[in-house]
Amino acid sequence: MITALSITSARRGKEQPTWRVFSLEELKSATNNFKPGNIRGEGGFGSVYWGQLSDGSQIAVKSLKFQSNITETFTVELEILARIRHQNLLSLRGYCAEGQKRLIVYEYMQNLCLHSILHGHNSLKCPLDWNRRMNIAIGSAEGIAYLHHQATPRIIHRDIKSSNVLLDSDFKARVADFGFAKLIPDGATHVTTKVMGTRGYLAPEYAMLGKAKASCDVYSFGVLLLELASGRRPTEMLDSTVRRSIVDWALPLVCEKKFSKIADPRLNGNYVKEELKRVVLVALICAQDLPEKRPSMLDVVELLKGESKDKFSDLENSDMFRSRLAAAGTSVAKDSLDYISEEKELEHPLRKNASCFFAIVAIFKSTLEALF
Ligand SMILES: Nc1ncnc2c1ncn2[C@@H]1O[C@H](COP(=O)(O)OP(=O)(O)OP(=O)(O)O)[C@@H](O)[C@H]1O
Ligand SMILES: [Mg+2]
Repeated sequence: MITALSITSARRGKEQPTWRVFSLEELKSATNNFKPGNIRGEGGFGSVYWGQLSDGSQIAVKSLKFQSNITETFTVELEILARIRHQNLLSLRGYCAEGQKRLIVYEYMQNLCLHSILHGHNSLKCPLDWNRRMNIAIGSAEGIAYLHHQATPRIIHRDIKSSNVLLDSDFKARVADFGFAKLIPDGATHVTTKVMGTRGYLAPEYAMLGKAKASCDVYSFGVLLLELASGRRPTEMLDSTVRRSIVDWALPLVCEKKFSKIADPRLNGNYVKEELKRVVLVALICAQDLPEKRPSMLDVVELLKGESKDKFSDLENSDMFRSRLAAAGTSVAKDSLDYISEEKELEHPLRKNASCFFAIVAIFKSTLEALF
């Protein structure tokens, strides 16, 4: 591990590494001996503790729970974090590997994550006004665009979701959690992997074939944008057996031009209509079934910023927003994905075989519908 990180730093020339190795003693003292009261969240990989170092700076310490792939998760996350530097990506402060313990130390984000702000205990008093939401949408898009287009080698995140968009004291977005990420070698378009991710955010072709491409992140980002604009969860139960995705809920409303019904009621109507429309349309072209029709993250940034009038008018006039048939096409795929896993409950890997049949049927159906 130390070797991998040293090599990375060496490649960067004389640039000073921004991370360091922490001793377990130092982290124990910073987190009050990993006191339960310091826990700020629990994920599939372990607990995240708030801590304060002797210089007064605040840190978040992720203590990875012991499991067979702990070394892989730890190594992947550190290797990727050490390569990247962008204002919308969470920075690494360091790590600790003593005995069986594997701890990753990050910058502390005062406002935790988008998921807890939108759906957590205090979500009724959601502090996200429209301006903040727009900044989060653009900031997180820029962070992912950096991973896809500027990082060398390029990086596919594979777990874009609202709990992996952290918010600093100014509610600025920082994309986090690179434990699932994959480096894409130069010249390659995808890597074939075990399917990892969270229900509601997974692109159908990825769930089926396990081919991780940048377009899989684009799909998940589309779901996240709808969540941000509407305040709804990625999927909802309509009754005890039927589950509906946020995309299936939003697309018919867009086809009927009822954008105001999509806006989060907690905004009390205080939003910029043109921007809401932009966010929702971009979300839906991102979260469409056919990966080749999804935009790149660079296009997404441009569209969200309203920088290209031509691209936006193409988007507005897309067939997808005219025909209810198209809306029906997406619902099949999303319903089928609901067999895979729970939101906020990771499976490592997902129960791929059980879902495979449904995903094949879904892709086949949506391809036919796109053709005719
Ligand atoms: N750097 C940080 N600063 C502040 N809070 C954080 C930080 N990193 C994580 N958290 C909080 O801890 C929670 C758990 O994070 P973690 O990444 O372990 O799990 P998760 O994202 O909820 O789920 P998953 O395991 O699927 O990624 C987050 O939802 C967030 O609220
Ligand atoms: Mg996370």
